[in-house]
Amino acid sequence: SGNRTFTMIKPDAVEKGHIGAILEKITAAGFKIVAMKYTHLSQRDAEQFYAVHSERPFYGELVAFMSRGPIVAAILEKDNAVEDFRVLIGSTNPAEAAEGTIRKMFATDIAENAVHGSDSDENAVIEGAFHFSGREIF
Ligand code: CMP
Repeated sequence: SGNRTFTMIKPDAVEKGHIGAILEKITAAGFKIVAMKYTHLSQRDAEQFYAVHSERPFYGELVAFMSRGPIVAAILEKDNAVEDFRVLIGSTNPAEAAEGTIRKMFATDIAENAVHGSDSDENAVIEGAFHFSGREIF
C-alpha cells in the first residue's frame, strides 16, 4: 500500500452532477479509495477546516461556498499520493490548469474549483482526521 491524500468534491461539482465522472478519473489514475462519505459542512465546520486561510481576503467567500451544499470527502491511497493527486487535479485556477486535469474539465473558477487536494502528507493526515474516525478508514 502507498501513502495517502485527502480530497473533497466541492459543492459546485456536486451541483453540476460531476461526482461520478470525478471519481472515475481518480480511480482510473490509480488511487484507491480507503474512506469516503457524502456529507455537508456547516459554516462552523468550514471555518475550522479552512482556519489556515482565515486572514485571506477570500476567507468569507470560501466558507460560504464550501458550506452551501453537500460534498464528497475521501481519503485516497497511492504511492506519492499528495504530489500525484495535485498533478491530476491541476492548478487552483482552472484557467491555468493543464488539459485533461480535473479542474480544467470540471471547475468553474479559482474559487469554485471542483476539488480539494491536500498540499502535504502532514495536512493529508490532519484533513482526513477532520472528516473520518479510524473505523471509517479501510
Ligand atoms: P483549495 O486550494 O482546495 O483550498 C483553498 C481554496 O480557497 C481554494 O481551493 C479555492 O477554493 C479558494 N480560493 C483560492 N484562491 C481564491 C481566490 N483568489 N478567490 C476566491 N477563492 C479562492
